[in-house]
Amino acid sequence: MDSNVSGEIQRDSDREEQLKAFDNTKAGTKGLVDSGIDTLPKIFIRPLDEVSGNCSIHAANLQVPMIDLSGLEKDENRKRIVEEIRDASEKWGFFQVINHGIPLDVMDNMLKGVRMFHEQDSEVKKEFYSRERKQVVYNSSYDLYTSKAANWRDTLTVNNSSTGQLDSEMIPPICRDAILDHTNHVLKLGNTLLELLSLALGLRADYLKEMELDKGWACVCHYYPPCPQPELALGTAKHTDSSFLTVLLQDQIGGLQVLYDNQWFDVQPVHGALVINIGDMLQMISNDKFKSVWHRVRANHVGPRVSAAFFFSGVTISQKIYAPIKDLISEENLPIYREFTIEEFLINFFSRPLVEDRNKYFMIDYSEGKN
Ligand code: OGA
Ligand code: NI
Repeated sequence: MDSNVSGEIQRDSDREEQLKAFDNTKAGTKGLVDSGIDTLPKIFIRPLDEVSGNCSIHAANLQVPMIDLSGLEKDENRKRIVEEIRDASEKWGFFQVINHGIPLDVMDNMLKGVRMFHEQDSEVKKEFYSRERKQVVYNSSYDLYTSKAANWRDTLTVNNSSTGQLDSEMIPPICRDAILDHTNHVLKLGNTLLELLSLALGLRADYLKEMELDKGWACVCHYYPPCPQPELALGTAKHTDSSFLTVLLQDQIGGLQVLYDNQWFDVQPVHGALVINIGDMLQMISNDKFKSVWHRVRANHVGPRVSAAFFFSGVTISQKIYAPIKDLISEENLPIYREFTIEEFLINFFSRPLVEDRNKYFMIDYSEGKN
């Protein structure tokens, strides 16, 4: 064995040890900050090309579209809104909404509840720490052992997507009411969004709802502590969402960025607004009409930053078959993807690094013998 190779292995086993030591604290990145560190531990350090990119020069004239949902019941408003959603979903894969019907205090309480969960007594919080697939788990970087660098954030996930049922008693008491209240409102908004997205695809309003896109969901509550060396880390690495649709609530700190035209754009925090984005599975059933785009969260000197991403993900145990919607395909517009079940899609999604374009494994190969 030459020295390079043994050096490589040496470093890898160091890294494995460091990951385990970090994981075993069950205190997440918040625990590191509380312990008073002033340099970034190696497991969080990313290569320069991954952390670079600044959008400030573009922000003035171009940004993720903001869509006002007020007056939806009036025909002329709805037409405009559907048109704006279509345009944003095709070009950005992201938009923000205001006047969406969720009361400000419900959203503020949600962010407060998430923050209280992460800032409570660490002995109580540890009880929820796990890497198992359970309805309620708290951990730091769900892909800690498979990714190249760890994310500078901790996450509480409440998830009913395996069966569509949730035992709400499992949610930590400190944020239970806040999460349940927010969830009920987001589920209603999700209904409205699925109608608007159906219309934006040129389908009848109840089309996506009937495909049961909203039966299973995950509410993923992030806490991004202040980072000692933010220029070396990311809060969330570049990824696309596996969901059909994501509704994200963020606080006022900022850091979420969307890749558009090969450049990173900040999603400006707007108090009361929600960020909506198209996930991989909606891109696939829309036959690429709507785009699931790369996004990430920068690490920051200031914080904590709190956010809650609500994924409409379908139900994993359902053996329902999904495929590009028949009404959207034709002789000129052949299906890009083959049929898939949600389970099959997720197994593929979680078995590959986040930075990969995972939809391609479901693409139909037209290269030979098909003409
Ligand atoms: C996610 C995500 C963004 C944020 O959870 O998939 O993109 O602002 N979160 O926390
Ligand atoms: Ni995301």
